[in-house]
Amino acid sequence: MTTTARSPAPPASAPGPAGKAPLRVVASAAGAVGVAGLDHTYTAAGRVTQALAGIDLAIKPGRFVVIVGPSGCGKSSLLMMMTGLTRPTTGTILCGGRPMTEPDPDRVGVVFQEASLFPWLTAQDNVEFPLSLRRVPKAERAARAREKLALVGLSGFEDRYPHELSGGMKQRVSIARGLVQNPSILMLDEPFAALDEQTRITMGDELLRIWAETGKTVVFVTHSLTEAAYLADEIVVMSARPGRIIDRIEVALPRPRTYEMMATPQFAELRERIWKQIRHQASA
Ligand SMILES: Nc1ncnc2c1ncn2[C@@H]1O[C@H](COP(=O)(O)OP(=O)(O)OP(=O)(O)O)[C@@H](O)[C@H]1O
Ligand SMILES: [Mg+2]
Repeated sequence: MTTTARSPAPPASAPGPAGKAPLRVVASAAGAVGVAGLDHTYTAAGRVTQALAGIDLAIKPGRFVVIVGPSGCGKSSLLMMMTGLTRPTTGTILCGGRPMTEPDPDRVGVVFQEASLFPWLTAQDNVEFPLSLRRVPKAERAARAREKLALVGLSGFEDRYPHELSGGMKQRVSIARGLVQNPSILMLDEPFAALDEQTRITMGDELLRIWAETGKTVVFVTHSLTEAAYLADEIVVMSARPGRIIDRIEVALPRPRTYEMMATPQFAELRERIWKQIRHQASA
């Protein structure tokens, strides 16, 4: 896993420079993510909604960062901007040292809550699909998709259609598809929210395994405080809308994480620290 020396991330209370703040992220690091001076306002049908305000966030390569915050605080909006799917009203986003002005699956893989697989394509063809858009030759495409399906534990299921797969398996296919272009960064928006509790825990373990094996930078949005504490190196806590970063918590739990850790006082303290802030936001 490559990490590059740089000054530490700014504290949550750092003044949010409007517009063109210099990024603190080292530009050359493929897995680095930097957000600076980001504000976003939606204008739709005459209604103006300020979704995000003064977001500054620097993520070192190889980190597992989880974003939590009250419903509607702008988590998905922020992720959409970091993946290049939406442009912020103001602010800069760098992934791998370059501005993120449009989706770029070579740099950033994306996984959403709904598996969003093509129902008429097999698991193999779903994973190959982004490569076929790039006109990667068939044999190479097939080999790369098979390798990623093996990485997510789906060897032997290549020929299955989405309706023949469980919810967890479909999300495995989505993760394989997100990784098929070998991006250094993987961003996930509540990827396991629709799964039952047992599958959700298993998928969390699977994602940690994949992360440890590949050294990717992971940015993961969730509503679940348990999931946040279980997965993260660092938890970014957002305020109610307009979303601001109100806390950044280093998770000191050792790795590998285990199910038993969820019963420790350290884990409970961590959840409580996040919950107090989110509850305060909800009642503010
Ligand atoms: N395309 C859009 N047009 C107008 N307003 C939008 C749009 N997308 C999101 N919003 C508004 O921006 C705010 C933030 O929404 P967003 O979906 O980013 O929040 P969230 O934190 O992901 O919520 P949840 O936890 O419920 O998923 C909300 O008030 C939402 O209504
Ligand atoms: Mg959301």
